[in-house]
Amino acid sequence: MKKIGILTGGADCPGLNSVIRAVVRKGMQEGYVVTGIKNGWTGLIDNDMRILDLKAISGILDRGGTILGTSRMNPLKDPQTVKVMKENYKRSGIDALIAVGGEDTLTVAFKMHQEGLKIVGVPKSIDNVLSGTDYTFGFDTAVNIAAECIDRLHTTAESHHRIMVVEVMGRYTGWVAVEAGIAGGADFVLIPEMPINIQEVCDALRNRHKRGKTFSIIVVAEGAQLNGRCSSTWNEDENNIDDFGHRRYGGIGELLAKTIEKDTGYETRVSVLGHIQRGGSPSAFDRVLGTRFGVKAVDLVKEGKFGKMVSLHSNKIRYVDIEEAVSKRKTVDLALYDIAKVFFAE
Ligand code: F6P
Repeated sequence: MKKIGILTGGADCPGLNSVIRAVVRKGMQEGYVVTGIKNGWTGLIDNDMRILDLKAISGILDRGGTILGTSRMNPLKDPQTVKVMKENYKRSGIDALIAVGGEDTLTVAFKMHQEGLKIVGVPKSIDNVLSGTDYTFGFDTAVNIAAECIDRLHTTAESHHRIMVVEVMGRYTGWVAVEAGIAGGADFVLIPEMPINIQEVCDALRNRHKRGKTFSIIVVAEGAQLNGRCSSTWNEDENNIDDFGHRRYGGIGELLAKTIEKDTGYETRVSVLGHIQRGGSPSAFDRVLGTRFGVKAVDLVKEGKFGKMVSLHSNKIRYVDIEEAVSKRKTVDLALYDIAKVFFAE
């Protein structure tokens, strides 16, 4: 019987279990046995795998996280590790590998495909940062969570006549900030793609308050830049860099709140949503998208289309080269940002 391996790598996000469930169900129907590789690429290095049967995937559709575990381990740093992965892939009898992940995991997938492994990619990320697909799964849930938080912050901001700064995830792109900002009626949305003009923000807030509004909501992506710097540069500590060279972000909200309070005199508070955006149950949209991606990934394995990533285009499930998806980050559509701007500080 032919064997499909599946792993989930990089940051977790809601919808991973929907993909795993779909791959196992569709895979079994197509006559494959599916083996789950634990903790991303680490499991392929350590030979940590187990067969996923119907019992293993029962009741996981609505569960956040990943039943396989994940890691941010970069196996490309050491050629010896790449060799071990190739050997273990062969030894375990895997005929094809489905790698579910974001830009880092899929960069490794592309490299391992070049090394001869038969790989199909599935795009995940709350940041929606991958090219070649309209959406990654996980993003919709994150936007919904952030929008609900903004709604809640609205009522307390209004009662206390305060400015609320809401820091959301998005270290290189502001997708979550823009969509959650539009959905939550934010008065400003600040994103990595657009350097912040703090004077413009403060002047607009003053005008808004002069017109009678006594509260405002500002959504800021963690990677937004103030005075030419983003929060990842504030901590030069080497331990702050992960295996793929990404620095940890966080702190732009706090800095922004302090600066605004000082400049305008309006009482300002900050809420950092952080990993709350990645935890918990996936939205219906992400369950459906993850399921569609999982089923399509098995189709691609069956058709022998390797080095490809399943993708969403105008609500149709298609596929692109993994290389295309990882070669360039998908930054915020500026036409969408212009829509958010219509509602800035009036
Ligand atoms: O890559 C997704 C992401 O959620 C980023 O937006 C964020 O900066 C990062 O992961 C946080 O990662 P970690 O889980 O390692 O703290």
